Amino acid sequence: MSSLPEILDTRPMTLPRLMDKREAGEPIVMVTAYDYPSATVAEAAGVDLVLVGDSAANVVLGYPRTELVSMEEMIVLGKAVRRGLKTPLMIGDMPMGSYEASNELAVQNAQRMVKETGCQVVKLEAGGLSVERARAIIRAGVPVMGHVGLTPQTATALGGYKAQGKTAKAAIQLCEDALALQAVGCFAIVFEAVPSAVTEAIASRLEVPSIGIGAGPATSGQVLVFHDLLGITTGHMAKFVKRYADVHEEMVEAVGRYGAEVRSGAFPEEAHGYSIDPEELAQLKAYLEMESLSSSKAWEWEPLS
Ligand code: KIV
Repeated sequence: MSSLPEILDTRPMTLPRLMDKREAGEPIVMVTAYDYPSATVAEAAGVDLVLVGDSAANVVLGYPRTELVSMEEMIVLGKAVRRGLKTPLMIGDMPMGSYEASNELAVQNAQRMVKETGCQVVKLEAGGLSVERARAIIRAGVPVMGHVGLTPQTATALGGYKAQGKTAKAAIQLCEDALALQAVGCFAIVFEAVPSAVTEAIASRLEVPSIGIGAGPATSGQVLVFHDLLGITTGHMAKFVKRYADVHEEMVEAVGRYGAEVRSGAFPEEAHGYSIDPEELAQLKAYLEMESLSSSKAWEWEPLS
């Protein structure tokens, strides 16, 4: 039985509709995508928000850390995602180094992300300095999604990929960051790897949608990384990932079967080939059988009448 919504809402997602969903208590569904096929999957599955996440660094580009992905790489991926999306709101993730140094740099790169990829909004990580950057980008006309808790771009400074806000002091800081991001106009805030009770306490004070990843059920919506939820990613997986398929295993099995069939001659079958008119084939064979034929004389040959 299909788990798709009975009626797919094909109206393009907008910021007011996102807010309506939050107010109506309708959970918001967000997923990452990094290329045309993953975007078409997100579109067909009826998700609300698609993030071209800088998690692309790890899950599609094979870098060991998120910080290593560049603006140029994010733009190539974003352009491909745009071609596969119609309905969900598309979010471009600002990679590390693209917004921290100054408001001017942040605005320039946010506008570049929008203009070159076609995303409608951008996301940037952390509170502190990022609050000022978010304010500048929003003032320049680009809506911003905030991101608090575990912020992978600064994971080294946070002591590694681990849950955040686990002491009262850290949870208060997280709350202040989220409220500050809301105050400068962020339209939504991601909570990553935050104790469920902390998220619940903070999210209920927010007036904008909160989107959780490893933050419990109290947020207005959830996000997961496409390759993690489908089981395309291999190796260590964060505690908050739920796998809905084992696509890596299926891909290995299918490519292995293809290899075995090529080796045994079982592939290709007649159905995978093209035919030629028998008359045309006869002419080709006659040409190939001509005694005087040599590659240097081939141009002299006339078709049989
Ligand atoms: O880059 C990413 O995939 C993200 C999500 C985990 C929110 O930032």
